[in-house]
Amino acid sequence: MTDRFFMCAPRHFEVAYVINPWMEGNIAHGNNKKAMRQWNALARAIGKLARIECIPAEAGVPDMVFTANAGLVLENKVVLSRFRHAQRRLEEPYFEKWFAEQGFHVLTLPPDMPFEGAGDALLDRRLPLLWMGYGHRSDFSCAALLSEKLEIEVQTLKLVNSRFYHLDTCFCPLEGGYLMYHPAAFDAASQAQIAARIPAEYRIPVSAADAFEFACNAVNSGRNIFLNHASPALTNELQSRGFIVHQTPLSEFMKAGGAAKCLTLKLTEPRKLASQAAA
Ligand code: ARG
Repeated sequence: MTDRFFMCAPRHFEVAYVINPWMEGNIAHGNNKKAMRQWNALARAIGKLARIECIPAEAGVPDMVFTANAGLVLENKVVLSRFRHAQRRLEEPYFEKWFAEQGFHVLTLPPDMPFEGAGDALLDRRLPLLWMGYGHRSDFSCAALLSEKLEIEVQTLKLVNSRFYHLDTCFCPLEGGYLMYHPAAFDAASQAQIAARIPAEYRIPVSAADAFEFACNAVNSGRNIFLNHASPALTNELQSRGFIVHQTPLSEFMKAGGAAKCLTLKLTEPRKLASQAAA
């Protein structure tokens, strides 16, 4: 199956407000032309192996480029995001309309329950399991509702560093059941949960230096991994597991607190079955 990824071109992208530490000091410090070049390079690289589907960019919602936050997709269902910050709530109707037009079954959470989609909720690539980060953006109480609506087990993980405010900034399930993650971004109990669920030989711990370069914020399609930057050590580690690492600079988007994974939403998310996990 050819993977499909949902993206939004940075036509109106800029740092216009501060809602995470990466954005501090960056208001009006962006270069939109450079952002466009970096985004095109990412889209072109992914587009060689998968299909890219774009939503038209809207003015007044500069973070709309971060389509990972549009919602959480599983099969033909999407749970729409309810952004914590007013600035991003304006994106919700555009995403809702797009998913409905594409024929997704659109599900919503109660209005007072912040949930930031695939920024904070990531499907394991081997287990029938949804990992959900909380502590900064998505509300802990979403976990039970997501589990009920999507009929899937949810493992919550507490994020403890404000630089890693979304789960996808520090945690990336990879094909084959591997997990690339930055352990220090999680509290001790969550680190223990991860270790209990993922065997040591499938865990790929990422150093602070790599994590601060958004190495965990990676797009994975089959054996291919697209990311902003990975050190030679991390690249070797991933290659030794059979992955092909594509580095594509995304510095303009890091000024807003996002990189490769945040700029995409995988639309092809078949359900993993317990029998497949055992195989
Ligand atoms: N400026 C955006 C925000 O703070 C960046 C979102 C990055 N997206 C992500 N999935 N981590 O909401």
